[in-house]
Amino acid sequence: MSGLCLIFLGPPGVGKGTQAGLLAQRRGIPHISTGDMFRRAIRERTPMGEKARPYVESGGYVPDDIVNGIVAERLAEPDCGPGFILDGFPRTIGQAQALDEILAGQGRRLDAAVYVDVPDAVILRRLTGRRQCTQCGAVYHVEFDPPSQEGVCDRCGSPLIQRDDDNDETVRRRLEVYHQQTAPLVEHYAARGLLVRIDGDAPVDEVARRIDDALAAVGRS
Ligand code: AP5
Repeated sequence: MSGLCLIFLGPPGVGKGTQAGLLAQRRGIPHISTGDMFRRAIRERTPMGEKARPYVESGGYVPDDIVNGIVAERLAEPDCGPGFILDGFPRTIGQAQALDEILAGQGRRLDAAVYVDVPDAVILRRLTGRRQCTQCGAVYHVEFDPPSQEGVCDRCGSPLIQRDDDNDETVRRRLEVYHQQTAPLVEHYAARGLLVRIDGDAPVDEVARRIDDALAAVGRS
């Protein structure tokens, strides 16, 4: 297998899902969000969802063996042949090592780690205003990207909700866990020459343009 292999890194609410989704559409490759996979499994009460539930609800991380297993299965699916964008994985050094092993087993390797960063105050505003579709997972923002009809998804007409983990206490916990466990991955990928830093403090279209320019600069246009 070959194709573009990208990951999106960054704190909660920075815009990883928004940008990974747009880039995946532009490139015609799958957008794989481990957070979305867990939320769906929790909603559907699958055995994996029941295992993940307490971690997701408290803002902690789901154990590496569970996450690595679902990512390995997903990356083996045929639609990942032309490439993929992982959003929210890896989040620990153990997951980064697992990803290298999965890709090596498929005869490919990571092309770049896109690291999106914005100031903490902007993150909090983005998280508290976020609304998500209960069915298709489309993401909106009450101020920056509102749906045409309040509370209703433009794409599929289903209701929009505020994520359970977007409350003050859980957001604080998610940021704390991010700084302890995921921030070290920025240095990890920088040391391997794979880090692409993006200033995400700009409107969605402008951030998308910055990502395209930065990927072109490293030969991944
Ligand atoms: P996950 O869903 O991955 O949550 P997260 O990393 O906290 O990231 P978010 O989805 O909150 O934010 P985002 O950066 O995607 O921002 P978005 O684009 O939505 O994970 C949830 C949980 O699952 C974790 O806490 C953990 O428990 C578990 N989990 C997942 N992966 C795991 C793993 N690998 N290992 C262990 N556990 C794992 O944007 C936010 C808002 O801002 C939106 O409203 C959007 O419209 C708006 N917005 C975006 N860009 C802009 C912009 N440029 N200008 C203005 N508004 C913007």
